[in-house]
Amino acid sequence: MIRIALLGATGSIGRSTLAVAARHPDRFRVVSVSARRSVSALAEIVEQVRPERAVLADQAALDDAGGAGMRGSTVWSSGAESVAELAAAPDVDVVVNALVGAAGLDPTLRALEAGHRLALANKESLVAGGHLVRRALERGGGTLIPIDSEHSAILQCLAGVADDAVRRVVLTASGGPFRGWSRDRLATVDPEAALKHPTWSMGAKISIDSATLANKALEVIEAHFLYGLDYDRIGAVVHPQSIVHSFVEFVDGSVLAQVGDPTMELPILYALTYPERVPDPSLQGFDPVRSSPLTFEEIRHDAFPLFGLGVAAGRRGGVAPAAFNAGNEIAVSAFLDRRVSFPGMARVVESAVEAVGASEPDSVDEVWEADRVARQVARAEVERLKEVSA
Ligand SMILES: NC(=O)c1ccc[n+]([C@@H]2O[C@H](COP(=O)([O-])OP(=O)(O)OC[C@H]3O[C@@H](n4cnc5c(N)ncnc54)[C@H](OP(=O)(O)O)[C@@H]3O)[C@@H](O)[C@H]2O)c1
Repeated sequence: MIRIALLGATGSIGRSTLAVAARHPDRFRVVSVSARRSVSALAEIVEQVRPERAVLADQAALDDAGGAGMRGSTVWSSGAESVAELAAAPDVDVVVNALVGAAGLDPTLRALEAGHRLALANKESLVAGGHLVRRALERGGGTLIPIDSEHSAILQCLAGVADDAVRRVVLTASGGPFRGWSRDRLATVDPEAALKHPTWSMGAKISIDSATLANKALEVIEAHFLYGLDYDRIGAVVHPQSIVHSFVEFVDGSVLAQVGDPTMELPILYALTYPERVPDPSLQGFDPVRSSPLTFEEIRHDAFPLFGLGVAAGRRGGVAPAAFNAGNEIAVSAFLDRRVSFPGMARVVESAVEAVGASEPDSVDEVWEADRVARQVARAEVERLKEVSA
């Protein structure tokens, strides 16, 4: 029985993880769950899976709920430290980090330092603190398995392959809902349109990141830290059908790809059982005729500058990726609140990256300091852009 700590249980990846676990009751037991402030949604999950512990990151949310819906033997607590404690608990086999944003960094570090297997959906933690995550992995002896479909695809293609056999990897991007749009038209985009992803159903933040292609930049940085590849060996291409989840090219010119319908349940199941594969009749096979045609396009840097900005931050290294991530979190939230335009998001993120140096963070405090500065500058840029457009 694999004992799972599920961080971010009320979100899109969290619910997909619960669905996978429910189909394999002989294999998985969800022993702890967390959310930020969705008390009633978390209480419903607790009712269904009867975990030992439930945590709300937001202290006030637990206080406000006053115990409503919290029946049974599950122990409830609150606060970011309690979330991190779930990740580090000794009686856990796999930690699924399905939090959104840099808030996932502490639980990522704690899970790896405790020597656990970490099934990581929260790409922002690897972007913000990649070197620290690698260090925690080495120190704690844990295992880091990506849930992101592109990185799961790469992992699957790399099975049994020597490190020096890989020439490069190419990540695929759906291109989001505005693929092919002109820059002028992009200036008219509203949050509702940006949240409608053409091929994936996901949480709000990653949906906006997919529309701007910031998500692909986060994933390039993620690939750098996961697979130890320098940036020249990580490419990205637009693939609107989201059937090919990534390519791995080998030194002899051979290329492998992992393909399948867009569902996060497969990479989640693989992350939970890696390197084993277990039967799951709910996950459909692949029909090449039905999926035809498969097409590929270059990324349009002029219309989607956040991709290039993010990769440049990755190349710069140090705390620049942390600043890119922090600025992007501010930009996405401002866009969702209609305080900044779709193209304005890139300017906000650029200001955040420019605000920090490129020194290598030696501690998590240094990451948080860069994150704080970047957020402050990004918020000021949101205000400045508002004044300019008023
Ligand atoms: N969705 C996908 O298909 C997909 C695919 C690949 C990778 N990912 C990555 O997976 C991660 C999760 O994405 P998602 O789409 O599942 O997000 P989501 O639907 O927004 O869910 C986020 C979860 O994290 C909790 N949460 C949010 N902020 C938090 C904080 N500051 N502290 C503690 N908990 C917090 C939320 O609780 P509340 O419900 O209380 O807000 C919710 O349970 C992201 O890093 C995303 O990039 C997602």
